[in-house]
Amino acid sequence: MTFRAEHLLGIEHLSPTDITAILDLADQYVDLNRSDRKHSEVLAGQTQVNMFFENSTRTQASFEIAGKRLGADVMNMAMQASSIKKGETLIDTALTLNAMHPDLLVVRHPHSGAVNLLAEKVNCAVLNAGDGRHEHPTQALLDALTIRRAKGRLHRLNVAICGDIAHSRVARSNILLLGKMENRIRLVGPPTLMPSEIDQFGVEVYEDMREGLEDVDVVMMLRLQRERMDGGFIPSEREYYHRYGLDAEKLSHAKNDAIVMHPGPMNRGVEIDGTLADDINRSVIQEQVEMGVAVRMACMELLVKARKLKPVGVMV
Ligand code: NCD
Repeated sequence: MTFRAEHLLGIEHLSPTDITAILDLADQYVDLNRSDRKHSEVLAGQTQVNMFFENSTRTQASFEIAGKRLGADVMNMAMQASSIKKGETLIDTALTLNAMHPDLLVVRHPHSGAVNLLAEKVNCAVLNAGDGRHEHPTQALLDALTIRRAKGRLHRLNVAICGDIAHSRVARSNILLLGKMENRIRLVGPPTLMPSEIDQFGVEVYEDMREGLEDVDVVMMLRLQRERMDGGFIPSEREYYHRYGLDAEKLSHAKNDAIVMHPGPMNRGVEIDGTLADDINRSVIQEQVEMGVAVRMACMELLVKARKLKPVGVMV
């Protein structure tokens, strides 16, 4: 096993071998999760704390189930009710928790870079569950596992990532991961929703959805991240759906066996047609959720094992 990372802060720090190691282990956890006895003792005696400073349904539930299935003691911090509201800084909260000897900290935060900062202050493994518009590594890994299982490979695929790229940590982590695995990536959306640093990504950019979807293997839709917008990015939701909402007609430009993905939460009738999202012949949205638990189990196991291999005192 070559996995040596202390934390999982972003896809940026992973090699193609790391990515493959995580996905291979996650495949085994898919089988465990489909069995009658969904339990292992891999994290027995370990304490996992989930700190979500931003709303989350599936990611938090997925990390909680993942930890419990591996036998860890899992605590969800109620961040709304915590001392943060009394003015305590993120770092003070982290140091307080650190003194209770957790082994895994799962953190979601509205500010890009906050999770990296926190990782410098604690001596346990930190997993980034999404920081601002920066990274969401476990989402990209679960997307990769879903693609690999549906397409039989994770290289030389044409993948279109569509919609609000500018505000999306999911897009950023997916661009990094799919690029490292040598896929061709197209970003499709209005210029107002494209990130400014786009030329550094090594991707093709399309403003027209039908052209952008021509012959792709994978169509990844994104939610309009209204909470990160300060107005003026799109004319109206109706107009946006007309030009960029995925429906059967626009999808007909992709390959016949192209799969449809969405990280959730979905806005039906804004970025995607509800019937298409539910079409089990095209949409793998529920598989993505299923793969999420398996991928998080794999990441947590590998991080805890990598730490056990390190001599005491080396970790900062
Ligand atoms: C994504 C997120 O939080 O970045 N959701 C998720 O983790 N499943 C995408 C989104 O909020 O649109």
